[in-house]
Amino acid sequence: MAKVQIMETVLRDAGQSLIATRMPIEEMLPIVDTMDQVGYAAVECWGGATFDSCLRFLHEDPWERLRVLKSHFKKTPTQMLLRGQNILGYSHYADDVVDRFVKKSVENGIDRIRIFDCLNDLRNMKTAVKATKEAGAHAQIALVYTLGDAYTLEYWEKIASQIEELGADSLCIKDMSGLLRPQQAYELVTALKRGTKLPIDLHTHYTSGQASMTYWKAAEAGVDIIDCATTPFALGTSQPSTDVMVEAFRGTAYDTGLDQNLLKKISDYFTPYREECIKNGLLSTKVLGVNTRTMLYQVPGGMLSNMIKQLADQGKSDKLTEVLEEVPRVRKDLGEPPLVTPSSQIVGTQAVMNVLMGERYKMCTQQTKDLCLGKYGQTIKPMNEEVVEKVIGKENMSKRITCRPADLIEPAMEKFTKEAKEHGAESEEDVLSYASFPQVATDFFKWRQAQKTKVDVTKADTANGAYPA
Ligand code: CO
Repeated sequence: MAKVQIMETVLRDAGQSLIATRMPIEEMLPIVDTMDQVGYAAVECWGGATFDSCLRFLHEDPWERLRVLKSHFKKTPTQMLLRGQNILGYSHYADDVVDRFVKKSVENGIDRIRIFDCLNDLRNMKTAVKATKEAGAHAQIALVYTLGDAYTLEYWEKIASQIEELGADSLCIKDMSGLLRPQQAYELVTALKRGTKLPIDLHTHYTSGQASMTYWKAAEAGVDIIDCATTPFALGTSQPSTDVMVEAFRGTAYDTGLDQNLLKKISDYFTPYREECIKNGLLSTKVLGVNTRTMLYQVPGGMLSNMIKQLADQGKSDKLTEVLEEVPRVRKDLGEPPLVTPSSQIVGTQAVMNVLMGERYKMCTQQTKDLCLGKYGQTIKPMNEEVVEKVIGKENMSKRITCRPADLIEPAMEKFTKEAKEHGAESEEDVLSYASFPQVATDFFKWRQAQKTKVDVTKADTANGAYPA
């Protein structure tokens, strides 16, 4: 049995899960050279919500962050998370935009791209995989793990073999919510190994308290890589601890071979920052500890905190239990999609609306309508036709699509380039920032321009230990 490798998430998913992606690059730089010595399978440091957070909250150019990080990660592959045809946003982009985004990511320093789709619709990952391969990078397809009648071992085995045909270099199981139980992980990895020879990476969250046991059983079934976070940013809604997993596997057939002293330097480095995040309120006890409701409601950490916030904003925090009970009903109505951004936001927001309005589907977001219209792709189960009719209206029932959604989207790079330049874009990277988040990128370009003529107030605040909210 080959040894297990570790993918370290502290610079992306751990920070996204525990402190709302607010870790600025200044907190990363003093330790990245040490991290580069460890021998991780990869270090996840870009994509996901980091891009938006850089522009919106941290006044950082995400592309510059990537270039700086890559200049330190000389030996370690850098990894990013990409939402397939959604890039980093919440709806589908034209193929030419996906292609340019992927190629620019690789050009600026990304070595591995983890590509997923919220419906596990492989058609929505095809363009990103092709562009990744053309750019000479490692394409990893991530399947969102979810429970439900349709998600049998046969389903996982079959889709694993389809992923190999698509040209991916590795396969990841992305368990957003910590739903994967130890014995099920053993069976799942065994089924995937029957379907493909590709290396298998398991990504889970500690939310339901089972994740380190799940990794152990996955190792017994031959998993190749597990995703972990350095101890101060592990557990809770984040990943299992790197240090703990390395120690647990030491001397066994799955020994990671990583140096505990080096890992201790990394966890020691992040410990005071964790304390600071607790003090300034970025790290809340709500995301720590074990949340057993996760098993019952299949709610990812990020979705849970969003729903809590939506309810608090309306002064309806007491409705949380009702909303959590509504989530599985909405999910069934909408074809039993996995719960991951953006389908998690669609289902979560709809559940909040259904409860707050006192009538189901009286009010719907455009995103719920688009999901019903097929604009996100194919759900694994058919939707509830009555619900769909209420959501999109009888007159729109014939407008539902079954093709790959991006087939209906015209090339858009030219249009984005023209628009972005009018809003202050100075490079193709800027154009792609604009294409991803038009308003946020425009504000960032304005801010950047203003810095050229005045003192940088935000950076001065950061140096004093206060972070932009
Ligand atoms: Co994650």
